[in-house]
Amino acid sequence: MIFRSFTKRQLTGIVVGLCAAWTMAGCETGNYPLDIFPEMHYQASHRTQEGPQVDAPEGSVPTTGKEVAVSDFVATLGTKNPVPFDSASLEAGRALFVTNCSMCHGLSADGETLVAQKFEQYGEKPPPSLSRKEVTGQQDGALFWTLSNGVNRMPAFDRLLTAEERWTLVNYVRSLPS
Ligand code: HEC
Repeated sequence: MIFRSFTKRQLTGIVVGLCAAWTMAGCETGNYPLDIFPEMHYQASHRTQEGPQVDAPEGSVPTTGKEVAVSDFVATLGTKNPVPFDSASLEAGRALFVTNCSMCHGLSADGETLVAQKFEQYGEKPPPSLSRKEVTGQQDGALFWTLSNGVNRMPAFDRLLTAEERWTLVNYVRSLPS
């Protein structure tokens, strides 16, 4: 065994060092309390033959306006959904849902997924069916809050999806049959 050649003190140092590195790995990116490996979707993507992209200067504001942090629940609750509830929004919402939510909540949002089974198997509250009045009847702001900040094991989407995409998803969730 390789560890035989270390003293107890050295071994403790190695273990402490590894734990520190593991913890530090969570500092930079991600939505999870402990992000061991930074997720690939946080990096800038390039298409084949595409030149390097220049990042926007720090502090620059998109032409669509500055993103408001979703940190105040009461303020968020009273926010009106800026995306109109129409067929275009529901269609876009469906596409966003399939990509970002269906693996946990199910393609028809009924919560019947392999992921849900695994959550249950490990004693975690599984992703629920969203097709219920208690969900579809929630205020837009409440749903937006959930999508932005996550709940327990549900990841936060504020870094993965723009505010407009999250509001679009709010429309979609509200359109589900309850
Ligand atoms: C990794 C799996 C996972 C993904 C991906 C995920 N969710 Fe969830 N979601 C959960 C879990 C687990 C809960 C239950 C959290 C709790 O109450 O402890 C939940 C809860 C919710 C709730 C609250 C339901 C209630 O009873 O009030 C909503 C709304 C929701 N999710 C919508 C979404 C949408 C929309 C997406 C896609 C943007 C999404 N979720 C992506 C796992 C997930």
